[in-house]
Amino acid sequence: MYLHIPFCRKACSYCDFHFSVNHEKMDAMIEAMCKEIELRKNYLENNGEKTVLQTIYFGGGTPSLLNSHHLDKLFNSITKYFTVAPNAEITLEANPDDLTDKKLLELKQSPINRLSIGVQSFFDDDLILMNRAHNASMATNSVKAAANAGFNNLTIDLIYGIPGMSDDKWKRNLDIAFSLPVEHLSCYSLTVEKKTALDKWIREGKIAKIDDESAINHFKILMSEAAANKFDHYEISNFGRKGFYSNHNSSYWKNKSYLGIGPSAHSYNGISRQWNISGNTAYIMAINKNEIPAEIEILTIENKFNEYIMTGIRTKWGLSRKYILNEFGAKFEAVFIEQINEFIDSSAIQCIDEIYTLTDSGKLIADRIASKLFVVL
Ligand SMILES: C[S@@+](CC[C@H](N)C(=O)[O-])C[C@H]1O[C@@H](n2cnc3c(N)ncnc32)[C@H](O)[C@@H]1O
Repeated sequence: MYLHIPFCRKACSYCDFHFSVNHEKMDAMIEAMCKEIELRKNYLENNGEKTVLQTIYFGGGTPSLLNSHHLDKLFNSITKYFTVAPNAEITLEANPDDLTDKKLLELKQSPINRLSIGVQSFFDDDLILMNRAHNASMATNSVKAAANAGFNNLTIDLIYGIPGMSDDKWKRNLDIAFSLPVEHLSCYSLTVEKKTALDKWIREGKIAKIDDESAINHFKILMSEAAANKFDHYEISNFGRKGFYSNHNSSYWKNKSYLGIGPSAHSYNGISRQWNISGNTAYIMAINKNEIPAEIEILTIENKFNEYIMTGIRTKWGLSRKYILNEFGAKFEAVFIEQINEFIDSSAIQCIDEIYTLTDSGKLIADRIASKLFVVL
């Protein structure tokens, strides 16, 4: 289960996820999300029993803005209508500025057993450019404080490819990350999303454009530093020690079904995908009328194949010829084999026992390879 908490303290200059900085409707939103949990208790396959949840993920937005009362309400609703597996992974995205000792104690007393801390950078000038609510010392201190509070499954998010960021500065970011008690790291190349402040500043010439070459260099540094620190590169943007890969995100990449609760949350049940409306007021109003404000797309076999290619190729588990044959049939298998050979010849893809994975050089062009493998009928 994914729960989208659509509130933030400030708008980050690069972010186009759905959130509001007006918190007036926070109580009403939590009530509505509890109601949606009830309304959609049978969305996932359950043979007439309560569905068993293997992972729960509070994303956002900034879920660490929730107080313990909000979290209690959500967990009460979840356990009333679902069964939470005994060793379920329960993650909450938290921002460093929220992680006071008091807050960490509250979180530790809840069922949450994994924190994903939105560090983004350990340097003040980057954090100012990104309009973050925390500074560099809060970033390091929050990670240490979370470990001291007893969280032993910590992950942090970092962003590279920031205009003007030198290779050395990115490497120093990684050195700090690997010196902290974290078991997992998500690193994203900065993307310029339309209608963000970053997009406006770049168009007005106030800051430099993203330099693709330096983003590629940062990614190469990231791969070698992660390997040197025994973090497995198990998905393009994700690195973890053995036993600490994200089970929740891995489910997305392994075609498992999931239920998304809250405005803008996506759901998938093996047959269709649906996404809730991205507006807090409209969402609350619809749920209060017992309606799910969602658009739905029934997936064709080509949609499913292309999604398998797009997500599978990014992971260390890769693409399986046998799976393609069994799930999609001989026609898809034949097209796949014909298209993939070009990338084996150029050493972007390696094939072991009919499993195709990206090489390090292939990881630099993963999206280009995926789009070449797509089937358009
Ligand atoms: C939507 S945020 C929510 C997490 C948390 N509230 C925070 O702000 O850190 C999830 C992650 O997506 C990444 N992200 C969001 N927009 C991005 C962009 N334009 N380019 C690269 N990474 C981005 C950030 O690393 C962020 O931690």
